[in-house]
Amino acid sequence: MALHCGRACRQYLLHLAHDNVDFRLPALDFLPFKGTVNLKDPEHIFCLLEDYGSDPNDIPEEPFHIYFGRWIADGQRELIRSYSVKKRHFIGNTSMDAGLSFIMANHAKVKADDLVYDPFVGTGSLLVACSHFGAYVCGTDIDYNTIHGIGKASRKNQKWRGPDENIRANLRQYGAESLYVDVMVSDASKPVWRKNAQFDAIVTDPPYGIRESTRRTGSHKDIIKPPEDFSGESHVPVSMAYHLSDIFADLLNFAAHHLVLGGRLVYWLPIYRPE
Ligand SMILES: C[S@@+](CC[C@H](N)C(=O)[O-])C[C@H]1O[C@@H](n2cnc3c(N)ncnc32)[C@H](O)[C@@H]1O
Repeated sequence: MALHCGRACRQYLLHLAHDNVDFRLPALDFLPFKGTVNLKDPEHIFCLLEDYGSDPNDIPEEPFHIYFGRWIADGQRELIRSYSVKKRHFIGNTSMDAGLSFIMANHAKVKADDLVYDPFVGTGSLLVACSHFGAYVCGTDIDYNTIHGIGKASRKNQKWRGPDENIRANLRQYGAESLYVDVMVSDASKPVWRKNAQFDAIVTDPPYGIRESTRRTGSHKDIIKPPEDFSGESHVPVSMAYHLSDIFADLLNFAAHHLVLGGRLVYWLPIYRPE
């Protein structure tokens, strides 16, 4: 057993070393610990954390809170830096921040060999996070340019996207290309999946209509039917508004039919907070 601690506490232990005073450890006497203390190779590590707040110019005499617990695992906060969208090969105006993408993947309990789907895939930030945990990933988006990685670049000092700016290249950047299933152009209001296609998780960031338009294929007007012999290949469907309530209703319906039992749907829901 070893007593170990975070920054605030480490400072405290240093302080103890100087003053040779220990008034916190006796307070832990009630714990039924038996056995020898092994600081070099402990079986269990216990942490004592004292929270003195976040204002370095106003440190109280006593901590606001004291936490004591057993170390279970290290966090993976370094991933936020190594997966930062600033260094990402292919990004767009609405690429999801790396930290938030990892939180979503964790909420979805994404694990190795899962199949994860993002119906509003954009530049694939959520697929990148899910593939980090070993899941196979696929996605769809209504925007042809985004899916094909073409058109105007989102980076400052770059006008057009380069030849290899796409979601597959993003996975390659992090050594996860083998987990890339595919992405395709598709309208989420008219899913193209066969009836019993099943995903282990659906992780997505639907359009809110603030940063990007919420459109779907279709029209309120009467559409003139194309002639019988029309192949349809060059046909570009007109689009109409895709209301938020419809987006979420479609998403929930889709998840109800296409998630494995116990599979999770994780998505952002915009809320209005006037204050
Ligand atoms: C908030 S963005 C997703 C950003 C993505 N998570 C990323 O990291 O790049 C929403 C995406 O939904 C797409 N979208 C909008 N309407 C759609 C529809 N009807 N069907 C499918 N995708 C749609 C947009 O083209 C946009 O890429």
